[in-house]
Amino acid sequence: MLRGSTVGLRARHEADVPVLRTGLYDDVVTGSRADGSPWRPLKPGSDDPRLVVDDKNDQVVGFSVVELDGGALLGTATLWGIDNHHRCAHLGLGLLPSARGKGHGTDVVAVLCHYGFIVRGLHRLQVETLADNTAMLRAAERNGFVREGVLRSSSWVLGEFVDEVVLGLLAQEWRASSARSGRDGQREARAVEA
Ligand SMILES: CC(C)(COP(=O)(O)OP(=O)(O)OC[C@H]1O[C@@H](n2cnc3c(N)ncnc32)[C@H](O)[C@@H]1OP(=O)(O)O)[C@@H](O)C(=O)NCCC(=O)NCCS
Repeated sequence: MLRGSTVGLRARHEADVPVLRTGLYDDVVTGSRADGSPWRPLKPGSDDPRLVVDDKNDQVVGFSVVELDGGALLGTATLWGIDNHHRCAHLGLGLLPSARGKGHGTDVVAVLCHYGFIVRGLHRLQVETLADNTAMLRAAERNGFVREGVLRSSSWVLGEFVDEVVLGLLAQEWRASSARSGRDGQREARAVEA
């Protein structure tokens, strides 16, 4: 398991799936905003492509997010679009409604950065989010992501086109800010020793 300050990122367990599905995707508004495709109902028990983790797919690594203290399930985290030639990837995360607004999202981004830069040796990480998703924008910026551009009216969300913001973070920027803040120092030291 990967550990942050308050969250752990571990493998997806079978029992996580119905909880995540209900909390993240059953609600039409939340599901439509979190997912780039139109909301549709899924038969109970059918495989949900957003939650099935395929260990053989080298381009996507899916985690379940749990509370370090007690192990309660909090949501999902994904490193996707992993490109080992350009050494870049995208971050995705979604927390259950009861887990939001408590700093966990910011911690999940920190752990995904550690995974991307240290464990996978990537050079660039990217986040795309709706322009009005203040919590996601702040969680990324808190970890050093920089707004690089706006994709104007690029997302159709429940009856209107919404702008999407692209944020990027380079490995050297992340290392410099980690060194300044002391954040991730221990994890980095362990990775170097190993
Ligand atoms: C986006 C999400 C992952 C952020 O995680 P979170 O745990 O709620 O966010 P945090 O508590 O770490 O807060 C991050 C920042 O956003 C602010 N924030 C949190 N919730 C907010 C809200 N509803 N409105 C405005 N600001 C908010 C916090 O004050 C904090 O700001 P600060 O760094 O300036 O103090 C989470 O809200 C979520 O899962 N939302 C639904 C799914 C989603 O939008 N996923 C992202 C798709 S790209």
